[in-house]
Amino acid sequence: MAESGDTGPCEGTPAAESYPKKILEYMEGFLISKTVFTSCELGVFDVLLGAERPLSAEEISEVVGASLDGMQRLLAACTGLQLLNAHTENGQVLYSNTEQARVYLTRSGPLSLYQSIQYSSRTIYLCWHYLTDAIREGRNQYEKAFGVSSEDLFQALYRSDEEMVKFMQLMNSIWNICGKDVVTAFDLSPFKIICDLGGCSGALAKQCTSAYPECTVTIFDLPKVVRTSREHFVTESDQRISFHQGDFFKDPLPEADLYILARILHDWPDERCIELLSRVYKACRPGGAVLLVEALLHEDGSGPLTAQLYSLNMLVQTEGRERTAAQYVALLAAAGFTNIQHRLTGKIYDAVLGHKETDS
Ligand SMILES: C[S@@+](CC[C@H](N)C(=O)[O-])C[C@H]1O[C@@H](n2cnc3c(N)ncnc32)[C@H](O)[C@@H]1O
Repeated sequence: MAESGDTGPCEGTPAAESYPKKILEYMEGFLISKTVFTSCELGVFDVLLGAERPLSAEEISEVVGASLDGMQRLLAACTGLQLLNAHTENGQVLYSNTEQARVYLTRSGPLSLYQSIQYSSRTIYLCWHYLTDAIREGRNQYEKAFGVSSEDLFQALYRSDEEMVKFMQLMNSIWNICGKDVVTAFDLSPFKIICDLGGCSGALAKQCTSAYPECTVTIFDLPKVVRTSREHFVTESDQRISFHQGDFFKDPLPEADLYILARILHDWPDERCIELLSRVYKACRPGGAVLLVEALLHEDGSGPLTAQLYSLNMLVQTEGRERTAAQYVALLAAAGFTNIQHRLTGKIYDAVLGHKETDS
């Protein structure tokens, strides 16, 4: 029997049966996501950033054009989530950003996740509505979610210019947080000429040029991505970064010492990965290498949870999956690469490096 004052379960009553804490948290997890999405979309954290003092619910609701009742509830929930600080002054509750909200949830800071949150809210969340169908059918859900064919994956992803810019902003934002770790997981300084295949608007290329002062990086991506990068992103202000447009499954690849494929293989099934890696192997200079940047699953599939969930996301949104290091080693070896190693960074994305032998 439990002793008096003991708040644990009675003998024979497992904690899980007396109160399903985890299950309740999981059931309600989407309420948390939506509270964060909505607060960002309404600009709550930006309004507080711009104010010189903590603000009341009345003031915030007036600036963002929201109902007072709705705003009071939203601010209370954000306080519960430790995204806002609240204190009472003259009987009025006043709110300010916590440090995490100021750094990551406001629109313009260098580490802002605002664009990722927008994409999660407006695109990924809608796709995940069809997760059950995705599991049953084993395929992505663009047709149901957005009424577009997914025969050409990146045509579906880039179904409008606006959607493409949002996707590119999503791709960018994580490299301010994890980019340095992945480009320094291995010493890449021997590789002076780098090609970032599917390098999007160049956020990871920038991390490369700042970690390795002697390298130049060519970003290879689809023509409309290159065009949009030049219009909306300012990567070419870095003299050591340039763009090359083309289709990496069809067009000649620029010659380089090192090819980076960051979050590329996870979009594609094994046979397409081998097709692409074989093209990379052919183009690569002898003594050169390929760096894969992906969220690695544990060998037994038991984690990390983020990679497991991302793999579900790859099902809902792409033709690929997240993989273990051994699975990437097998893909690289099938394309001819040798001396393959991987390094975990402790953040979301890890690195796998494969070499092309000098005398090949
Ligand atoms: C998931 S994103 C990864 C972007 C970037 N490497 C990163 O990690 O932020 C995939 C990238 O591959 C590009 N891509 C897809 N298919 C391509 C193709 N056939 N040829 C060239 N680039 C392609 C996309 O435009 C996009 O920039």
